[in-house]
Amino acid sequence: MIRAGLIACLVFAACSAPPEENGAPVREPLPDDIKRSGTAFLQPDTRALQADDFANPGFLWIDRGEALFRAGVDGSKACAACHGEDGADLAGAAAHYPLVDAASGELLNIEGRINQCREQHQSLPPLEYESDNLLALTAYVAHLSRGEPVSVDVTGPAAQYYEMGREYFFTRRGQLNLACSQCHNEHWGEKLRGDTISQGHGNAFPAYRLEWQTLGSLHRRLNDCDEGVRAEPMPLGSETYKAVELYLAKRAEGLPIETPGVRR
Ligand code: HEC
Ligand code: HEC
Repeated sequence: MIRAGLIACLVFAACSAPPEENGAPVREPLPDDIKRSGTAFLQPDTRALQADDFANPGFLWIDRGEALFRAGVDGSKACAACHGEDGADLAGAAAHYPLVDAASGELLNIEGRINQCREQHQSLPPLEYESDNLLALTAYVAHLSRGEPVSVDVTGPAAQYYEMGREYFFTRRGQLNLACSQCHNEHWGEKLRGDTISQGHGNAFPAYRLEWQTLGSLHRRLNDCDEGVRAEPMPLGSETYKAVELYLAKRAEGLPIETPGVRR
């Protein structure tokens, strides 16, 4: 009933009261005093699972990523040979992604940077998006920034991608004709399909989702949200989703990286 109520409210503008409490759509950027990580909206048991490094299933992926990081493949140099045995060189790096790579002009998220290193520094083929090994390496690299506040550059060559992501966030789509902003700016804190809608931040990704029974990327989560409004989702790793990732990171500025998150 709650679900039907909220969807009707969103789709038919039939809300009983305007969602002033949570902030109107014009409230951009999200003010710091109301900005909260998705973890704050979880059920206590899910939150406890995330907080326990031994029970958090995401740590199996961190371990796998660490092993890959230290191993050279087919005679190639290991990641660790260039970035330090425990990845010390990369501490804090993930908090500044996505970014525009100066050399190629391409918008890179962590997945993209790892694949660039494989191609340019290891002479290895890129890993497929959402493959177990790319997820494990991405989670490992992100985890090296755990606790680091998200802080991205959206000026210069990044500005066009920021605008692209922002536009995606505010554009209605799908059969339900809903924009990201309608759920994550205007209705966070409300119930939908057994979830409490969060502000839609990406700072805990890659995250272990109980519904997936595995670790997944932020782009996979975006796919689920697009499918939730019955829109055609964008391909994982696409420029559009990377641009949305950049917009979300700017919007989440100051929140700590929490990878690996645990989600319902
Ligand atoms: C109909 C409402 C709805 C719409 C529209 C929607 N989402 Fe979501 N979104 C959810 C729900 C429900 C969840 C799971 C609970 C949560 O974390 O918010 C979620 C989760 C997320 C998360 C993960 C947050 C976390 O901490 O785990 C992100 C990021 C996100 N959405 C971004 C988006 C983006 C970007 C769009 C537009 C492309 C979008 N959402 C559209 C309802 C929606
Ligand atoms: C032969 C040395 C070498 C190897 C091997 C290598 N990298 Fe890199 N990596 C670099 C260099 C150099 C940079 C700086 C950007 C550039 O010039 O490509 C970099 C940049 C990065 C960055 C971005 C750091 C930042 O501050 O933005 C990440 C993340 C990264 N590498 C991860 C990896 C991973 C994971 C592997 C293994 C799959 C790997 N690298 C293998 C040399 C290497």
